[in-house]
Amino acid sequence: MAWYKEWFGEDYLDLYAHRDGDEARRHIDFVERHFDSEPPRAVLDLACGAGRHTEELRRRGFRALGIDLSLTLLAVGTQLPRVGGDMRHLPFADACFDWILNFFTAFGYFEEERENFRVLEEVSRVLRPGGSFLIDFFNAAKVVQGLKAQETVERGGRTVDIERWFDAGAKRINKRIRIQDPGRPSRTFLESVRAYSAEEMECGMRWAGLVVDNLYGSFSGDPYDHDSERLIIVGHRPA
Ligand SMILES: C[S@@+](CC[C@H](N)C(=O)[O-])C[C@H]1O[C@@H](n2cnc3c(N)ncnc32)[C@H](O)[C@@H]1O
Repeated sequence: MAWYKEWFGEDYLDLYAHRDGDEARRHIDFVERHFDSEPPRAVLDLACGAGRHTEELRRRGFRALGIDLSLTLLAVGTQLPRVGGDMRHLPFADACFDWILNFFTAFGYFEEERENFRVLEEVSRVLRPGGSFLIDFFNAAKVVQGLKAQETVERGGRTVDIERWFDAGAKRINKRIRIQDPGRPSRTFLESVRAYSAEEMECGMRWAGLVVDNLYGSFSGDPYDHDSERLIIVGHRPA
């Protein structure tokens, strides 16, 4: 089974509990600073997970809707409007969102380049002309440079062994995560993300009919450079 169908469940939620509502608030502060932001706006939280950004957007009066593939994550916060679906085939009409937001490296999951770029085509299709998008990706070169091959984390009686490697041929950053809890069988998951450079991302966006307006390196609004932690791409669909 594809890694992204297995990994985003209960163990992911536990391990990434620090990716929480406070962080989501800072992300949406950034969006409000950088986008034209008169609520209500129709906003898609693309690959929304447990819905922390959907929740924050709705708290601020935006008409936000989330979509995600993981039924386990969608079952968290069931009061939030979210739908199950695949980002390569969005179950929405053309031009129905004012903004599309994709947070925390939820891109580059598929093996084929064309499948990853298909997501951008879908963003372009469901965004209204003149609408804005944001993709919050990692700075792949920086991640590769600082890759810790082996790490063991002890948390709440649980041992998490993480192995990381860069597959230069496939240009993918891979992570194997082995979780051992006392009294439970151990679980092993894979995470594998295509290490797109800023240039490759921009090229994919142009191909999908999107315009890139700015590249940021953090949610503080620093410009993107080769040392940035993040590659935050902000752009729009031409009117
Ligand atoms: C790293 S998490 C980020 C979640 C959320 N954006 C956040 O910041 O908390 C990546 C998300 O992508 C979702 N995902 C993976 N493959 C997907 C697909 N093919 N279509 C839609 N969502 C997918 C996962 O289920 C997971 O919720």
